[in-house]
Amino acid sequence: MPVRDKLILALDLNEKKRALEIVDKFSDYINTFKVGLELFVSAGPSIVDEINRKGKKVFLDLKFHDISNTASRAAMAAARLGVYMFNVHANGGLEMMKKCRESVTELCIRENIERPKMLGVTVLTGLTPDALKNELSVTHSIRTHVNHLSRLAIDAGLDGVVASGHETAMIRTHFGKNFIIVTPGIRTSWSPPDDQRRTATPREAIKEGADYIVLGRAVLNQPDPLKALELISAEILTA
Ligand code: C5P
Repeated sequence: MPVRDKLILALDLNEKKRALEIVDKFSDYINTFKVGLELFVSAGPSIVDEINRKGKKVFLDLKFHDISNTASRAAMAAARLGVYMFNVHANGGLEMMKKCRESVTELCIRENIERPKMLGVTVLTGLTPDALKNELSVTHSIRTHVNHLSRLAIDAGLDGVVASGHETAMIRTHFGKNFIIVTPGIRTSWSPPDDQRRTATPREAIKEGADYIVLGRAVLNQPDPLKALELISAEILTA
């Protein structure tokens, strides 16, 4: 897969116009753009169509987590929007993930829509082992928990997971080469961790088996974002 197909740029901002300017600016380097909570809530669902009309794919990162009926209806709405990929929280449980998968598959067959890739979010990259244990009362290790949630995602029929670079190699080994791994929390040697806690460099994440890495502030908060992206692309080529 060419490097540009492995990169997802996170449009974490609240202005549609600015988001579309970024899509244009990075068009030669990036094929998939991530629309997350902030942009979706501020700009509305039409942002997906506007990015698609520029010939680009959208990863809708809204992390659905609700009772199975509600989550699956939101999942169907996401499929109708024409997203390339979207996610649900694996913590929502097997039934919720399964219902999302089944409803979206049926809808796509019925309405002749290309089925979006569906991912389960495992453990957020902003969570520390301490927070998982002391705040969320998960007493086993993050790795064990990510492994468990990835298994649930597979059992539900999802296409892959979102996981930090710390667990990428383990997931790849346990669940094979066809299971999609998207890795956020990417930081270079020159970018600060911000609120991320379990980070990996672009090279590490790709080397460990990530299919896609999500680039956000490590690119967009740099004085010269295009230069940052070029450096990252070059780094990946050495992985
Ligand atoms: O700027 P930064 O690289 O931290 O952005 C990471 C992006 O990936 C954010 O949009 C965040 O919501 C998203 N994300 C994440 N961890 C996950 C899933 C998504 O950081 N587990």
